Amino acid sequence: MARYAYVNGRYVDHREASVHIEDRGYQLADGVYEVVGVRDGKLIDEGPHIDRLDRSLRELRIAWPVSRQALGFIMRELMRRNRLRDGLVYMQVTRGVARRDHAFPTKPVKPALVLTTKNSKRADADPGPGIAVKSHPDIRWQRCDIKTVALLPNVLAKQAAREQGAKEAWFVDAEGFVTEGSSSNAWIVTREGSVVTRPAEFGILRGITRTVVLEVIADHGLKLEERPFTMEEAYAAREAFVTSATQFVMPVVRIDGRPVGNGAPGLIASALRRDYHAHAEIG
Ligand code: PDD
Repeated sequence: MARYAYVNGRYVDHREASVHIEDRGYQLADGVYEVVGVRDGKLIDEGPHIDRLDRSLRELRIAWPVSRQALGFIMRELMRRNRLRDGLVYMQVTRGVARRDHAFPTKPVKPALVLTTKNSKRADADPGPGIAVKSHPDIRWQRCDIKTVALLPNVLAKQAAREQGAKEAWFVDAEGFVTEGSSSNAWIVTREGSVVTRPAEFGILRGITRTVVLEVIADHGLKLEERPFTMEEAYAAREAFVTSATQFVMPVVRIDGRPVGNGAPGLIASALRRDYHAHAEIG
């Protein structure tokens, strides 16, 4: 079966899909992206993801490449062509193609839009054995609230984690506080049973999954503390977990080689994972 990608108005064979060498995303990472999860052929939380794309575009003063309605159509058409049941839709908007200059092009250019899909196994309620994370200095810029394609620090951190047998990296800021994962938000549950995650300011991405999980936490009547936490607190935590559009709620069972709690997925993380889909917008 042919796999399609969408590139600037056309559905093309994924193997042949390409953009211009002077696309500003390619040369300058001058672009933004979104990842929307798909389950049973339906988009998860499409509305909030597209709202965040709109915000990222506005922050960088990149125009919408197509209307919001057209983007919704393109996502569904690509899913249909690729017979996507479970996985994700990736979309990327860059400022467009122009002669290389760091400043914005002076002549109007059309923003470039690319979409791909990726299949994955249907994520069920059982999280499996959980994952290990490894801490890493947060060397990123100060606008991590914008979902840009400039992900080199995230790439290096994730690679360092992988080379040490961990699935995810947790960024630690200059004051010793955890900011977030290289591609997920970071959470702990204290010995007293409070769920702790960093407030969504400029230093982290306001995860869509994070927002839904906050609702699930409120629904369960759990105590929430939106505040920064240190690695020492994470080592001493009863539970830890990460959230993202691709992993939903994933328990963390090892941090820097030390077991979290009893080294098995925690009860709260497992309950949040189980109840996540009941709170997400499916469509
Ligand atoms: N990443 N923080 C970072 C740095 C991320 O890259 C992501 C998502 C998140 C979680 O956001 P959300 O819940 O909206 O997926 C937090 C996506 C999945 C990626 O880059 O593939």
